[in-house]
Amino acid sequence: MTSSFLQYCHKNYNLQALNTLAVPSIAEYFADVNTDALLLGALQFSQEADIPLTVLGGGSNVLLPEKIPGLVIKISTTGREILSEDDNAATIRFAAGENWHDTVLWCVKKNLYGIENLALIPGTIGAAPIQNIGAYGVELMSCLERVEGLYISNNTPFVLDNSDCLFAYRDSIFKQSMRNKVIITHVTLTLSKEPKLHVEYPALLEQLDKNKVDKGTLSPFDIASAVIAIRQHKLPNPEQIPNAGSFFKNPIVGEVIYRKIRDEYPAVVAYPMPNNKYKLAAGWLIDQAGWRGKLLDNICMHHNQALVLTNPNHCTTKQLLGFVDKVRESIFDKFHVNLEIEPIQL
Ligand code: EPU
Repeated sequence: MTSSFLQYCHKNYNLQALNTLAVPSIAEYFADVNTDALLLGALQFSQEADIPLTVLGGGSNVLLPEKIPGLVIKISTTGREILSEDDNAATIRFAAGENWHDTVLWCVKKNLYGIENLALIPGTIGAAPIQNIGAYGVELMSCLERVEGLYISNNTPFVLDNSDCLFAYRDSIFKQSMRNKVIITHVTLTLSKEPKLHVEYPALLEQLDKNKVDKGTLSPFDIASAVIAIRQHKLPNPEQIPNAGSFFKNPIVGEVIYRKIRDEYPAVVAYPMPNNKYKLAAGWLIDQAGWRGKLLDNICMHHNQALVLTNPNHCTTKQLLGFVDKVRESIFDKFHVNLEIEPIQL
């Protein structure tokens, strides 16, 4: 297989078009993997040649180094299978390479509730559980049934139920103990036929008002349409301005730090969390520190949403991280808060 898999590989392949930050990055070998057989071929190739294997989904939440040794694969497998369906719900198994937004639109069209608030998030469904994608009051964990995949070292399959995935805010077992050890091949969701609405988010309520929809009879389509409108207005389209969505996580701080910040900056945007903790809006902190729309070293925090780093001049990850250090330092100096990067550094 080792030699026959080589025919699917490109040597010294530039991944710039395969990551939404448009960072230049050369993979020693690259293959687009769109079948289960090719995936097994890739695993065997990397094992027999004893080279590292790196997995890309939509490339919308990664920071790539200038060179990646070994084999890089992009998971492009497709497929949707309805495992069960009754009057109340449907359980559907998706192949990892399915585009996330297309998946949302497909479910919305079927009038299924659960992921409509997550419309227009870039990336694939296989990558969605890694950071437990979330937006407008909903996280993927609320409707995820299970995740299936393979161990990279020996092709052994695994199945994790929702509670095994150790989901938290922008976090899961796939970012922790299973990081770089597995490939996600399928994700199963259970979606509801009964309205289960999450419309408390102020920006969403405002947009629903603007769209003049009856809040008593909201369909998944109504909500997805409102989310799409907000995102299109506020977030840059990566195809036009390279970016990876929110570049930092919203920091979670204890009550003492929160009160200290609030005393000095009464307008601070914060959401109460369990155990007397507060989630601060990193976009607000970055905005207050003067970074919104400021171009430095050819890199910029977006003028409409300071949490989104944009890379209009296709800088390298090293250059981006130099800029990021400056932003983090200034936030620490002003607020004594440490910002953590959201994209995964490969
Ligand atoms: N804000 C500012 N200035 C800015 C940006 C934000 O003052 O430049 C303030 C806003 O006015 C608002 C608050 O900060 O009061 C929060 O902003 P927003 O509603 O835009 O949400 P966010 O906390 O910045 C999070 C997610 C987004 C998700 C939105 C909506 C994280 C890291 N980000 O952003 O997710 O779309 O909520 O739910 O949790 C992503 O992860 O890539 C992403 C886009």
